[in-house]
Amino acid sequence: MITLDNINKTFYTEEIETHALENINLTIEAGEFTAIMGPSGCGKSTMLNIMGLLDTATSGSVIIDGVRTDRMADKDMALVRNLKLGFIFQSFNLIPSLNVLDNVLLPMLYRKGSSPSENKKRALEIIERVGLTYRQKHFPSQLSGGQCQRVAIARALIGGPKVILADEPTGNLDSKMGKEIMEILTKLNREGVTIVMVTHDEELAKEAGRIIRLLDGKLA
Ligand SMILES: Nc1ncnc2c1ncn2[C@@H]1O[C@H](COP(=O)(O)OP(=O)(O)OP(=O)(O)O)[C@@H](O)[C@H]1O
Ligand SMILES: [Mg+2]
Repeated sequence: MITLDNINKTFYTEEIETHALENINLTIEAGEFTAIMGPSGCGKSTMLNIMGLLDTATSGSVIIDGVRTDRMADKDMALVRNLKLGFIFQSFNLIPSLNVLDNVLLPMLYRKGSSPSENKKRALEIIERVGLTYRQKHFPSQLSGGQCQRVAIARALIGGPKVILADEPTGNLDSKMGKEIMEILTKLNREGVTIVMVTHDEELAKEAGRIIRLLDGKLA
C-alpha cells in the first residue's frame, strides 16, 4: 500500500543540519495496522508526514498504491492525499469556526464532482458511527478532547481513504479516551482500512499487528 524506498530526510537550519531519517526502506501492506514507536526526536512524525505526502524527502521515493510520487506536481500529490489518505493528529487540528458537521465535510469541498447532499448524508452516517450525532452542531471549543478526536476521525473517514495515518492520536487524551479511540481504529482496520499510527503507548501499540521502532532516524 505504501512503500518507502531508501528515504532520507535532512532538515537544514542556519546552524545545523539534522538527519531526521536515514535510508528508510519499509513497506506497509494493505490491511496492516502498524504502530511506529521510538524516543522523542527520532523521526516518527517526519516519517509519517513523508508517507502521507505532507512533506517531501530529501532523497528516495514514496510509492502509494502502486504510484511513484517523487517528481509529482503538488496538485497531483494533493489529489492522492484527498482520494487515498486520511490524517489524524495529536492536537486534532479541527477548524474552530466550523461545527462538527462542517469540520467533517471539509475534505469533500476539494473533491470535484461530489454531490453536496450525498456528502452530507455520508457525513451524518460517519458522525453517528463515532457516536457524535447529538453533538453535530457543536463547535470544537464545546467538545471534550476525546470528542474532538472522534470528529477528526470522522473527517479522516469521509473521503473513504485506503490508509489512515495517525500521529499520536491518543497523545492528548486520558487512558480511557485513548482506548476508545484505539477501538475505533481497530474496528476500521478489521473493515480493511490500512492504519499507520505513531504512539508512545506500549499497551496500545501491542494491539497493532506490527510494531516498527525508529532510533535516531533509522529503523531499529
Ligand atoms: N522543520 C524542521 N526543521 C528542522 N528540524 C526539524 C524540523 N522538523 C523536525 N526536525 C528535527 O528532526 C528530528 C525528528 O523530528 P520528528 O518531529 O520527526 O520527531 P518525533 O519522533 O516525531 O518526536 P516526538 O515523539 O517528540 O513527536 C528532530 O531532531 C527535530 O528537531
Ligand atoms: Mg512527533
